Amino acid sequence: MSKTHAEGRVAVITGGGRGAGRAIAQRLAEDGFDVVIGDVRTESADQAAQEIAASTGVRAAGFSVDVASAASVAEFVDSVVERFGTIDVLINNAGVISILPLEQIDEAEWDRVLDINLKGPYLLTRAALPHLTSSGWGRIVNIASDVGKRGEANIAHYCASKFGVVGLTQATGVELARTGVTVNAICPAIMNTDMMKQIAKEGAALDGADVSDTFSHLPDVVPMGRATEPTDIANVVSFLCSDDASFLTGQSLNVTGGRWMT
Ligand SMILES: NC(=O)c1ccc[n+]([C@@H]2O[C@H](COP(=O)([O-])OP(=O)(O)OC[C@H]3O[C@@H](n4cnc5c(N)ncnc54)[C@H](O)[C@@H]3O)[C@@H](O)[C@H]2O)c1
Repeated sequence: MSKTHAEGRVAVITGGGRGAGRAIAQRLAEDGFDVVIGDVRTESADQAAQEIAASTGVRAAGFSVDVASAASVAEFVDSVVERFGTIDVLINNAGVISILPLEQIDEAEWDRVLDINLKGPYLLTRAALPHLTSSGWGRIVNIASDVGKRGEANIAHYCASKFGVVGLTQATGVELARTGVTVNAICPAIMNTDMMKQIAKEGAALDGADVSDTFSHLPDVVPMGRATEPTDIANVVSFLCSDDASFLTGQSLNVTGGRWMT
């Protein structure tokens, strides 16, 4: 039998201990990739890896990494390559948010969000690049946001970081266009994860509203009438990591049920 595009290849997913990253890791394993989950929450990375290995039969491992730290990222990439041999796919998914009016975003909070959401993908891409390009086939997928393309109140730092991810995706896509490595982003909106619960909680506190009301009304702005599920994102990541997507690069695809279209 001939090998699929995924067999013998290694996919690294940051922030894969839960939420979208967990679903992406599961899906890429089902496609046949070996998967590495890097997360600051080491226990959840380990547990996710164990469950994925047991349910799919691929090699899977969890590692501790803080994507905002160059030293931590370098150590992570070295450990992955030592154990798995190479990196073929990089999913920059780890991200954080806080809901604050601009005047309440202090410098430390600005830096925290920008460092994890934007510097993280830069650090990971730079550290993994020699491995991604070495075989002449590679995939980078950055998880941005619909607010990487449009402004929204009370998340100026998060918006700026995700606009940055869209820019990083375009620039890196062009720069790597002749290496066999494609670079694309996915822009979700209102995704049913712990982050959405946090958005509802902090948004409700700001508005003096009821949390469960705010949570249940978040998907009202989605034309398809429901929140994005992590598997909606994982399905598109799977496509972007396939050979069918080999001529797509520098794109930031909205996966929002019609919430955003440009
Ligand atoms: N949930 C949404 O509504 C939504 C919408 C658009 C975009 N996104 C983006 O999707 C991605 C996944 O979000 P989610 O909703 O699954 O969030 P989540 O909070 O459920 O999961 C995020 C994961 O990232 C990890 N993480 C956080 N900081 C880290 C760090 N410094 N180093 C390594 N790992 C770290 C967390 O431990 C966690 O496992 C993020 O980039 C987020 O910005 C989410």
